[in-house]
Amino acid sequence: MKITKSEFISSYADVHKCPAPDKPEFAFIGRSNVGKSSLINMLTQTKDLAKTSSTPGKTQTINHFLINETWYLVDLPGYGYASVSKTIREGFGQMIEDYVQKRENLSCIFVLVDSRLEPQKSDLSFINWAGSKGVPLAIVFTKVDKLKLNELQRNVQQFKKAVLADWEELPPMIITSSEKKTGRDELLDFIDDALKV
Ligand code: GTP
Ligand code: MG
Repeated sequence: MKITKSEFISSYADVHKCPAPDKPEFAFIGRSNVGKSSLINMLTQTKDLAKTSSTPGKTQTINHFLINETWYLVDLPGYGYASVSKTIREGFGQMIEDYVQKRENLSCIFVLVDSRLEPQKSDLSFINWAGSKGVPLAIVFTKVDKLKLNELQRNVQQFKKAVLADWEELPPMIITSSEKKTGRDELLDFIDDALKV
């Protein structure tokens, strides 16, 4: 799929204020700083359509981007960022949980996982929780430019094993780097296929 048009539509903290759920929607979810906003810029070939920062906690609302006038790409706040005050952190949790459970046009959520780390509890519990809600999901490994191929293979293998402790089969997995544009075609093909269903 070619992306010919990407527009920022809205930024809200409440799922009920999001645009009418009249188009298929794909959302990026994951720990703070994992690279959600960067991946949106990589996919849309823009520099700062989605705001990024080296400091975790940059995205604090639900951000809708309309792609090719036909589907939404959504940037969300991160989960599991300990330095944000407890109340705000719980708010993030609630916003994401409401979004995942109430957004009726969700075609797939992409759970972004930092490829440099061993399996993180927060990622696994999010994947298990979202899976239990019946939301289609795929796992996207980020920042693969930061490690060697054998390290990447080891981490992906460990992650698969951790997921299989709770899942009967593995969800789709895509390897990416926003820095090197790795995985762009694969991610867009995946979305294209989902749009045809
Ligand atoms: P929050 O909005 O805070 O939840 O973070 P986020 O998940 O949106 O992360 P963001 O895209 O803002 O990126 C966080 C940091 O990681 C930035 O400094 C990015 O430049 C860096 N980063 C993101 N993707 C990549 C990547 O593929 N490779 C490398 N090397 N750095 C990356
Ligand atoms: Mg962000």
